[in-house]
Amino acid sequence: MNSLEIRALSDDAATIALLADLLIETVAAGGSVSFMHPLPAEAARDFWRKSLAAAARGERAVLGAWHGGVLAGTVTLLLDFPPNQPHRAEIAKLMTGREHRGKGVATRLMRAAEKLAIEKGRTLLVLDTAREEGAAGLYEKLGFAFAGEIPDFALKPHGGLTGTLIYWKRIGAAAADTLP
Ligand SMILES: CC(C)(COP(=O)(O)OP(=O)(O)OC[C@H]1O[C@@H](n2cnc3c(N)ncnc32)[C@H](O)[C@@H]1OP(=O)(O)O)[C@@H](O)C(=O)NCCC(=O)NCCS
Repeated sequence: MNSLEIRALSDDAATIALLADLLIETVAAGGSVSFMHPLPAEAARDFWRKSLAAAARGERAVLGAWHGGVLAGTVTLLLDFPPNQPHRAEIAKLMTGREHRGKGVATRLMRAAEKLAIEKGRTLLVLDTAREEGAAGLYEKLGFAFAGEIPDFALKPHGGLTGTLIYWKRIGAAAADTLP
C-alpha cells in the first residue's frame, strides 16, 4: 500500500475512538491481543487512554498506519524495562483492520517499530504470539527467531486455551555484530 503513512499516535479522543474500534474488531475476529470477546467499548477506550498516557511518558510508542484518514493498523513498542534490561524493547498489540489485511500494513508497522527501537538504542526485540490465530509466520518472515512455546498460556477471545510462541530478534548494533 503506497499511500500508507506510519506515525506515532497522539492522546486525543478521536484517535482513542479509532484505536478502540480496531481493538474490538480484532478481538471479535479471534485475534489474541489480551482481551476476551465481546470487548465493551469503554474497556477498549480505557486501555488505549492508559496506553497513550504511558506513551506520553516515554514508556512506550504507539504507532498507527494511516491510509488517508483511516487508521488501517497499529503496533506498540514497549520501552519501559527494569534497570538490567536497558537494551531491550518488546512488540505488542500488532493489529491490522480486517479490510486492510494482506497489503503489507503489519510489515510496514513492524519495520517502523524496529527502526524506532534502534533509534532508542535498543539491541534486542522480543514478542509473543498465540499458537492459534497468531502471526508466527509474519514474524519469521521479518527475521524473528523462535525461542519456544508455553502451552495453554492464555484464553482465546472466544474461549478455549492456546499456547504462546516466544520470538526474539537482534537489532541495530547487535545485529551488525552477528553479520558474517
Ligand atoms: C497478523 C496481522 C497483524 C497481519 O496483518 P497484515 O497487515 O495483513 O500483514 P501483512 O500484509 O504485512 O503480511 C505480511 C506477510 O505475513 C504473512 N502473514 C500475515 N499474517 C499472518 C499470519 N497470521 N500468519 C502467518 N503469516 C501471516 C502474509 O501472508 C504476508 O506474507 P507475504 O509477504 O508473503 O505475502 C493481522 O492479520 C491481524 O491484525 N491479526 C489479528 C491480530 C493478531 O493476531 N495480531 C498479532 C498479535 S501477536
